[in-house]
Order: sequence, then structure tokens, then C-alpha cells
Amino acid sequence: MDKSRKEFLIQLGSGLALASLPGIAAAADTTGIDLEAVAGEGAPDDEKYWKQVARKYYDVSGDYINLENGYYGIQPKPVLAAFEKNIIQANRDAARFARKEFPGLSANIKKELATFLEVSDEEIIITRNATEALNIAIQGYPFKTGDEVLLHQLDYFSMIECFRMLEKRGKISVKTFDMPLLPVNEDEIVEIYRKMITPKTKVILLTHVSNINGLIVPVAKISAMAKEKGIDTITDSAHALGQVKFSLPALGSDFVGLNLHKWIGNPIGAGVLYIRKERIKEMNPLMGDVNTADTNISKLAHFGTTPFAVIMTIPDSLAFHKMMGVERISARLHYLKSSWIDALQSNPAVEVVTPKAISCAIASFRVKNKTNTETADYLFKQHNILTVGRALGKEGCVRVTPAAYTSIEDIRKFVAAVNAFTTQS
Ligand SMILES: Cc1ncc(COP(=O)(O)O)c(C=O)c1O
Repeated sequence: MDKSRKEFLIQLGSGLALASLPGIAAAADTTGIDLEAVAGEGAPDDEKYWKQVARKYYDVSGDYINLENGYYGIQPKPVLAAFEKNIIQANRDAARFARKEFPGLSANIKKELATFLEVSDEEIIITRNATEALNIAIQGYPFKTGDEVLLHQLDYFSMIECFRMLEKRGKISVKTFDMPLLPVNEDEIVEIYRKMITPKTKVILLTHVSNINGLIVPVAKISAMAKEKGIDTITDSAHALGQVKFSLPALGSDFVGLNLHKWIGNPIGAGVLYIRKERIKEMNPLMGDVNTADTNISKLAHFGTTPFAVIMTIPDSLAFHKMMGVERISARLHYLKSSWIDALQSNPAVEVVTPKAISCAIASFRVKNKTNTETADYLFKQHNILTVGRALGKEGCVRVTPAAYTSIEDIRKFVAAVNAFTTQS
């Protein structure tokens, strides 16, 4: 059995009954944990299975339907229990813990995280979130005056702001284009990027999974195409890790930022910046540092005091995530998303602005002649269903994000509420 999983199960031993989800049944023999069967393999439409997972692992507020899981993910119960334990330890043992134990502990956690991400621990730093990771990459990149950066309207606003700030300072110029909302396939997306490249293009910002409409861009294909032309990609995988099948080396992007609090279920406050080893030397630290070797990625991580308990909980959230399996979660999320898109397709007042096949959990829609605020407010005030309005062109859109614990009944209630909204006036 994988070591992290074993440690995780041992930690859970104090009272938490584990489901015999595929892949952890064998754990019972070695840990003595009292397993309680969850019938089925976790097929995307096996409601009985997913209900048991929801009940066993998630403590979800029952007084509203949360379809805004794109903000951050609920920590599974065992992860939350580990986090609580870690908060207490860091508080009780205080400076002795921070000085004597945490350095070794965090080095091991970083190693475990790097193994999970299939890269070397000399190629990652743990940040507070994806925004911090990507700011370090973008502001530290060795741009030369006149370099051009390529981005579009579905990229994340904080990264756009960061590039715009560099442009304002006269460092670079930003070239933007409109990504079609409903591309037919990945090749169409690659061709769009290829056409937008100019002789000055130095960097392409790739938002792996858009926070606006959930579009998944083919990072590996675009990075390979860009690399052939001597262009770098800086990849924002904030929504990719844990939501979709993910292999960091397979992305072929030398600079990747992500977080662990959206789809991995870690407590808020941990992100990762990956930089391919050979590229570290040329990067400039954002936070002042003159003593660390310029080939050492730690030169970019001159942070102050870190959130100990959040970092200490990373092995627990990784273990839980591995136990569930990204393929199983991803297929379930895709199914929930497809269910509402299929159901609303016949409503002429609804416009879905997400390509069903090139997205996973996140998808967005508009109601004709209504603003996104009116639609999201109606859903929340009249039906206790939380979604969120996103800026997108003149009309905007409403983003809908289920999670692993979301039931198909909740999706049906959402569909009924949208249908009611479009027929009321
Ligand atoms: C595409 C994308 N990138 C980056 C971020 C920022 O993530 P973080 O909260 O970890 O800084 C978000 C957050 O919603 C996002 O959706």
C-alpha cells in the first residue's frame, strides 16, 4: 500500500469509519480500521454510491444548495479533523514546534507534494495560493522591453491584471483576443493561439480551466506548438488539479501555478509554483533575496511566517484525493454538469456558454434579457441555490459548479428553478 495512504488511514483510526471505496479495501487488513461497505464502483450516475460518499465524508450545510464550489472546495471530514489537530499542535507547541519540528516536516511534505505532482521537489515552492504562485512567475520572468504576451477574455482576471501592471510599467505589451465560447474541439483552440502569435510574442498565458465558463484548453498541445517557436507558456492550473486528470510534466509548460484548496480539499492557504529546473536561474525573485543560490527555487520563496497547520494538512488532503481517484471524481463532475446542460438545452430562453465536451465541473449560462445578477439573485433568494455571476462580454454569465457531494436531485432542483425563472415574466 502506498505509504501516504497508510499514514492517512492510521490517522483516521480514531473513530472515523472508512468506506470500502475501491482501492482502500486492502487498507483494512493492515490498519484494523472498521470498514463500512459502500456498494458500487462509483460510476458517474450511481446515485446510491455518491450519496454514501457525501454522507460519510462531507459535512455540508443543508439549508442551501451550493453550486458555487468553484470558489473553494469543502474539506472532507477526515481532512478537516487532521487540520483541527494540526492547528492545536502548532498553537500548543508554538515556537518549539516551528523551530525544531516544522522545518523537517515541511521538507518532507514538499517532497510528498512533488512526488504527487510527478516533479522534483527542487522544482516547486509552496505558496499561499495560485495568485501568489503566478505573480511570482509572471513578475519574475526575464522579459525584455518590447516582449509581447498573449491572453484572452476567459483568462483569470488577477493574471491579466499582473500582465497589465507590467505593461503599465513599460516592460511588455499585452495582446488580447476573444476566445470563442464554444470551440468545437481542441485543435480549433490550438489553431486560434497559433494565428494570434506575432514575431514579438514571448509568453502565452494559459488558463488551463477557465473560471468563467470552464473551458479546458489543451495545454500540452499549445505549449508544444509555442515551444517550437521559442515561446514560453505560463500555465494557470488553479482549477485543473483535482478536477481533471492532471500530469504536470505532461503539460510541457515550464511555469505552472496552482492551488490545493479548490479541487484537492486542502484547507485554504496552500498553492504551488512549479518551474522547470533549467529555467530557475533566469527568474528574478519577487520577494527580496540575495543569499540563496540563483539556481535554487527557494530564492523565490522568501515568505514570512507560513500557515503551519495548512501545510501540515497537505498529506491528508492528498491521501483523501488519491483514495477517491481523480478519474472517478472527474467523471462524476462531468456527468452532473452534462445533466443540467442537457436539461436546459430545450429552453429557448437559456443560452449555455460552455462547450459540454471540453469542460468538466464548471459550466455557465445566460438567461435571455436578464442580467447575470438578476438570474443569480433569483436562484438564491427564491430557491436557496447559490451560483455566481461572472463578467463575460456585455451580457455576463452565471457560473454553476457542482462538487463530488452534489446530488442529482440538487441538479434537478436547479434546472426546475431556471425553468421557473424563464417562464415567470
Ligand atoms: C483560473 C483561476 N486562476 C487563479 C485563481 C486564483 O486562485 P487562488 O485563490 O488560489 O489565488 C482562480 C480562483 O478562482 C481561478 O479561477
